[in-house]
Amino acid sequence: MEISINKERLLRDLNAVSRIGIGDHGSVTRLVFSIKELRSRQLLIHLMTQAGLKIHIDRIGNIFGRWNGANPKAPAVLAGSHLDTVVQGGKFDGPVGVIGALEAVRTLKENNVALPCPVEVVCFVGEESSRFGFSTLGSSLVAGVVQKKDLANAVDAHGTKLEDILSSMGIYRDNLASIKRDPQTVKAYLELHIEQGPILEAKNKKIGIVTSIAAPSRFKVVYAGQADHSGTTPMEMRKDALVAAAHLIAYVEEIASQHSDTEKGRVVGTVGAMKIEPGVINAVPGKVELSVDIRSTSAEAKAHVARLVKERAHQIAEQRAIALEILPIREEEPVPLDDSLLPLISEICERKGIDYEVMPSGAGHDAMQMAKITCAGMIFVPSRRGISHSPQEWTDPEDICLGAQILLETIVRVANEKN
Ligand code: GLV
Ligand code: MN
Ligand code: MN
Repeated sequence: MEISINKERLLRDLNAVSRIGIGDHGSVTRLVFSIKELRSRQLLIHLMTQAGLKIHIDRIGNIFGRWNGANPKAPAVLAGSHLDTVVQGGKFDGPVGVIGALEAVRTLKENNVALPCPVEVVCFVGEESSRFGFSTLGSSLVAGVVQKKDLANAVDAHGTKLEDILSSMGIYRDNLASIKRDPQTVKAYLELHIEQGPILEAKNKKIGIVTSIAAPSRFKVVYAGQADHSGTTPMEMRKDALVAAAHLIAYVEEIASQHSDTEKGRVVGTVGAMKIEPGVINAVPGKVELSVDIRSTSAEAKAHVARLVKERAHQIAEQRAIALEILPIREEEPVPLDDSLLPLISEICERKGIDYEVMPSGAGHDAMQMAKITCAGMIFVPSRRGISHSPQEWTDPEDICLGAQILLETIVRVANEKN
């Protein structure tokens, strides 16, 4: 007998999550460790309790809702994503994977599907880097891959250090490994997510099966010139840090565009945040801090472009006789996902007559960290016009439901077939 998810319940719960942090034009903002993000996690705990899942919350706040199968001691199949968002993001980036997994497990449980191992619905804390520049925080800790040095420059726009928040939860530089999950207890990790790109829509495909995830090189560039009076300082006597930054921003666009060949692992480069001091109309900007995010599925192409950007940053500083500091944030390698899942998910789609696309992910995901400790796979559903990290992000509810159904069937196959 084919069992089906309850679409109405899935969409109801997704809507309930998206009402937390709703803002202008239907945007959603739930930055990591904000009250809104905490409330979304509380709602999930409530939904997991209602579903009769056994809840475990680790020290950073990652939530695991477990349904024990016939053999509670066996390694579990994990499925989930995140509930935190960017600033003014959409409803679906993250929650589709968490609530989709919850719906899949609720359906399995109420149909008394006998599985040989437990299944856990997972919500990872702090997947988005919008607050601290640090992405996939919760899953990186679960995978045991956070290094002391990664925390050094993780500071939010108000000067709050990530390290201080972590230490308030008993997580310190010397016990970062304590949150790591024993890989022996995990059989696989599956993540349903919106594509956040235009490929599926353009090809009229309903499902994407992800092969690899592009990883970022991230660093801050700080130009320190001289703050000065905007009326009295002659142009030739200025040390304008913002003009230096402007040249670098234009270079990031130029050099990434020159490396956009998909065959060689398309590189993308973004300066998405900037702090200007003093940041007023009547002063020459004395100090500017900008964030650089360079990504590719090719480690070589990414490293090459990142090196060129840093060299250019130095050149600009020398030409303008201003000081420069480059602060590393995080350096990550592109991650291949488990290729044994590809034929398995393809087969599920083919049996149902669903046209799917095999594709890489340009966006980062918790799966990229979980892939370091277990067999990890991702299922994409289409994003309207490819838009995401924006209030205009949208996925057809029918596509979300289809994705959750494919996730359910994948969980069953992985639980039964994979060792
Ligand atoms: C996560 O959404 C990212 O920034 O890739
Ligand atoms: Mn995102
Ligand atoms: Mn996401």
